[in-house]
Amino acid sequence: MISWGISACTHDASLAVVRTEPFGEDDEILFASHSERFSGIKNDAFLNPEIIMEAKKYGEPDYVYWYENPWLKWTRKKYANQPRAWLSPKKYLSNFGIKSPYYTTHHKAHAAAGYYTSPFKSSAILVVDAIGEWTTTSIWKDMKCIWTSKYPDSLGLFYSAMTDRIGLKANEDEYILMGMSAYGDPDRFYDDIKPLLKQNLHRGCKWWNPDLKEEDYFDVAAATQKVYEEQFGKLLFTTARLTDQTNLVFMGGCALNCLANRIIPQYFANHWIMPNPGDAGSSIGAIAAREHKKLKWKTPYLGYNIEGGYPTSDILANLVALKICGVANGRAEFGPRALGNRSLLADPKGSQMKDVVNKIKKRQEFRPFAPVILESEVHKYFDVPEGFQSPYMQHVVRCKEPELFPAIVHKDGTSRVQTVNDEQHSGLTRLLQRWKTYSGHPILLNTSLNIKGEPIVNDEKDAARFEKKYGVKVCVR
Ligand SMILES: [Fe+2]
Repeated sequence: MISWGISACTHDASLAVVRTEPFGEDDEILFASHSERFSGIKNDAFLNPEIIMEAKKYGEPDYVYWYENPWLKWTRKKYANQPRAWLSPKKYLSNFGIKSPYYTTHHKAHAAAGYYTSPFKSSAILVVDAIGEWTTTSIWKDMKCIWTSKYPDSLGLFYSAMTDRIGLKANEDEYILMGMSAYGDPDRFYDDIKPLLKQNLHRGCKWWNPDLKEEDYFDVAAATQKVYEEQFGKLLFTTARLTDQTNLVFMGGCALNCLANRIIPQYFANHWIMPNPGDAGSSIGAIAAREHKKLKWKTPYLGYNIEGGYPTSDILANLVALKICGVANGRAEFGPRALGNRSLLADPKGSQMKDVVNKIKKRQEFRPFAPVILESEVHKYFDVPEGFQSPYMQHVVRCKEPELFPAIVHKDGTSRVQTVNDEQHSGLTRLLQRWKTYSGHPILLNTSLNIKGEPIVNDEKDAARFEKKYGVKVCVR
């Protein structure tokens, strides 16, 4: 049987294809991608014929699942006085010739995407996001919901409102606020910001502190992160107490706050965050919530395929000659991070590289990049035990030699590290081994391969456009 899961019509639409075996143990994820990669519109909320055509390569769907409950969502929109034109997923999907979907609920799809892809037999599940239907935070034990908070009480809405307040784009730029927080004074606005948690922040808080100047934004970001982490700590405590579990699955858009996630080990011995924990990941969750079976989580490389072997020699030659090189090869990553298949790679040493890459990416100068490193050597460069794994760039750890790698170390001395081993990605592992032979270090800067304002490169055509626009070689095969 082929099942399709769809998350669409809010933001960052996605489609997943899963092979389900009625009597089998595990279902297999065949394909998952963001709509934006095919339309070229960043965070595209809607499906397009191209992603549907790609999905059909894996089989016509026997069942279709939608990531939330449209009736419940309508009641909340009515309560919130939002424009509430009735969205019928059935009618919407019929425009693409897709059959009627089965529904689940927004938080159940988040919980299922995490729980059924996790390595745990039993676990607590915490879901924290801005808003779906009514639920904004939920705690589960093995897919049984045991605690919720409801709209308008929402930690995710708080974080998005503060993102909007400092002139960034809500539901998109929260990670920039998180990065800014390292540069500010967390106490200056703390007493003013904390009470905002009690407000309905659905429509932002532009009204808060009208005299706020741009030079204050870093302090606002630092206080926002501090308030968020305090509340997040309380939620982790409550989750541990209510479930009596040592394993945690953490999902929802807030699970992308990797800075705050460093406190999870204070409450849980083990945790799993599916690499695409926001609403786009719920295309997988919509299927899992109804199928109630483990999904084989083998890899995040689930999107469009650029065929051919990993071009290790070409990448290395470009890195040696120019210290920077793009790569677009194999299946695209499902999720917000480029993990080696749609990446811009560069030498992380020296004081110039951060500026060089920032100029291409046109990012704010204060933002550092992330490193990719051989898993077998990560403990030599970062303050982690031997064998430490962070294959999806979800962990923030302290760098032992920040002055040696200024392009990949944040102001607070930490890096959001990606570890890689042969089983996860043999081509990238080989590249790092050979890069070490040449440079002395098994570590590269790794950032997503995208033109400013556009989604991450998807196919060969996108790669060629990037290469032409920035004059940086993109190795395809
Ligand atoms: Fe959500």
